[in-house]
Amino acid sequence: MLMEQELMTIKNNAVSLILDAGSEKELQEIKLQFLGKSGALTVALKEITKLPQESRPEIGKLANEVKKIIEESIENATQNFKSKKIEKIKKIDVTEPGIRPALGHLHLVTQAIEEITTIFEKIGFTRVSYPEIEYDWYAFEALNFPENHPARDDWETFFIDQTPDPKKGPILLTPHTSSGQIREMEKQVALQKQHGNDISIRMLNIAKTYRRQSDASHVPMFHQFETLVVGKDISITHLKGVLDYFVKSYFGESRKSRIRPYHFQFTEPSFETDVSCGVCNGKGCKLCKEGWLELGGAGMVHPNVLQNCGLDPKKYKGFASGWGVERVLTMKEGLKLDDIRMLYSNNIEFLEQF
Ligand code: DAH
Repeated sequence: MLMEQELMTIKNNAVSLILDAGSEKELQEIKLQFLGKSGALTVALKEITKLPQESRPEIGKLANEVKKIIEESIENATQNFKSKKIEKIKKIDVTEPGIRPALGHLHLVTQAIEEITTIFEKIGFTRVSYPEIEYDWYAFEALNFPENHPARDDWETFFIDQTPDPKKGPILLTPHTSSGQIREMEKQVALQKQHGNDISIRMLNIAKTYRRQSDASHVPMFHQFETLVVGKDISITHLKGVLDYFVKSYFGESRKSRIRPYHFQFTEPSFETDVSCGVCNGKGCKLCKEGWLELGGAGMVHPNVLQNCGLDPKKYKGFASGWGVERVLTMKEGLKLDDIRMLYSNNIEFLEQF
């Protein structure tokens, strides 16, 4: 009867441990403890062989029952843990407040581009997009640049190492958005040939431009926005009107604009355009010195340029302007950038301020 008692104790211990187990892992350990190679029940079973022949069948039967109970209890408890896990997964409280994903924002240069676009679209300009990798014809030749102009030098412009086109010349990264003027006029002349309409252009070309420069106030890749207006009665007053409208819309109602004589190859007459300083209101201060800040170039489209695009300069006139996006952005009141390269440094702390 001793053996019988020992088996019952093993069974009771095992079952109470199984009921108390806190995890599937613990259940596995209990299994080893009782049913493993040197487990309590395994050892007891070996003892049966030492018993007198006649009591062996009965004890053997009991031992098998104990084994079965332990195995089944472990199996049940394991299943219990598994279904609890599933229940846990199922029980998601959908009314709980969620975790907000961190939202970024547009880069400040993109913001400026969008603002500029909206301003010009309001007065009927159409935004266009032309190649950044351009032929010399569009960037220089058709824009009336003489052959030996310094901008055509590879100290100033990035040239692509490829065989030049026999008609359009070397391939380069466009150093200004003025190349878009030629693309636009050529396109409109081709359309006119098809449809016979009069030519009327109000183009806004905002694009990346490239020059071989890098210091606190220059980056090798920057953005310009170019306007081109072509029609039969276009004059300097239109240019001044658009300049004034842009300055007031972008910088604020109180700001004034002015044009000064200058020289560009592709405009005649040519101007520098200025905006009154927002810090001193045009009186003169440390920032502007004489009350004005330089915005960029503009002028009446040169007759040679119109002609190069197949337009009759006696019939059509036009004005154009080309200003820097980064430039107008940093000129906006309150935005003082010591180093323009910060714009492209990918410094999150800097970018998050805007
Ligand atoms: N393309 C000139 C530059 O990058 C800027 C410019 C001047 C554009 C006069 C114009 C213009 O359209 O009329 O410096």
